[in-house]
Amino acid sequence: TQIDWSDDAAEKGGYAHYMLKEIFEQPDSIWNTIRGRMDSDRGNSVLSGLNVQPRDLAELHRVLLIGCGTSLNAGLVGEYAIEDFAGIPAEVEQAAEFRYRNPIVGSKDLVLAISQSGETADTLAAVREAVDKGALVAGLVNVVGSTIARETGRGIYLHAGPEISVASTKAFTSQVSCLLMIALKFARAARMSRERGVRFVKEIEAIPDQVREVLKQNDHIAEIAENYIKAESAFYIGRGYMYPVALEGALKIKEISYIHAEAFHAAELKHGSIALLTEELPIIALVPDGPGKDKTLSNVAECRARGSKVLLVATEGDDEVNDYGDDIIRIPAAPLHAAVIPATVALQLFAYHVARLRGCPIDQPRNLAKSVTVE
Ligand code: G6P
Repeated sequence: TQIDWSDDAAEKGGYAHYMLKEIFEQPDSIWNTIRGRMDSDRGNSVLSGLNVQPRDLAELHRVLLIGCGTSLNAGLVGEYAIEDFAGIPAEVEQAAEFRYRNPIVGSKDLVLAISQSGETADTLAAVREAVDKGALVAGLVNVVGSTIARETGRGIYLHAGPEISVASTKAFTSQVSCLLMIALKFARAARMSRERGVRFVKEIEAIPDQVREVLKQNDHIAEIAENYIKAESAFYIGRGYMYPVALEGALKIKEISYIHAEAFHAAELKHGSIALLTEELPIIALVPDGPGKDKTLSNVAECRARGSKVLLVATEGDDEVNDYGDDIIRIPAAPLHAAVIPATVALQLFAYHVARLRGCPIDQPRNLAKSVTVE
């Protein structure tokens, strides 16, 4: 008998798709992002490529985070973390929108351009606009030597390794890891104590193992996915740090399974969109233990009262949520800014299995390109 061993299969390392391979690489890719960039003694991060000194930060008015698609969703986590920990006003903006609406931006603003490929035309144009306006511009880029990395001249490489699947997975979790390190650095230059910084470093370093715990549930998530493959539409809800996770979870399922999905801030659903709820429309709710959980659970109860099936992403051992969901994916206990990453990985796997069961071409979805170099 002949062994059927194509180059393609070899490159996917035994996984059925690049996307699954890249999802499973995340404990390592995240570690590669943070390795050598943490000072656990001083409770700080070392981001020399950013080339921003604590003294410069005192002058900083605002941080603007720009990107597209998945990179835009990562930017929103950055906005929350920078405001939350460093107390610096931060805003995330879609790159093309930033460029075309003649934004107020100047020398006291730091613009962080977030891009896996470093070649996205909209993001590149926004970078050039920010440079022309005299802002400090830095890149958060994966592809070394890419145009955005070169034109910003400063920044942080993600070191996530090549991402082949059109749907971005490991780039997102590395982007969020970088943004948490940036928030830490900026916070330490402001009011965050060394002691809190030391804990923050530990919270970031714990993420790869937490992702490992989620990956162990792959088979369980595959089983759950069967209950959702008939849906034509799904709503993702979360609040605070879980709102960007809802956005990214919905984006993944749209990209690869072609199920229409929308993400809402959990509180916003009742202001109109709740009219769409039927028994056919499932809700995916992010309710890890932490601030906002109880409020989101009441929103979930409102959805269930209208017959919606509910999938919860909740903390391991938190039995309070049990009666609120039809299915539950568990993530390890973590502060919510760190829980963003394991919660997103859970939804990546969920989207993957839904798409696989629906027979979709996972690595090359229709109408999408890995890198969009036209405006
Ligand atoms: C395309 C891809 C998305 C990606 C976005 C931004 O639309 O299909 O997966 O998130 O571009 O790409 P970038 O390389 O700038 O992160």
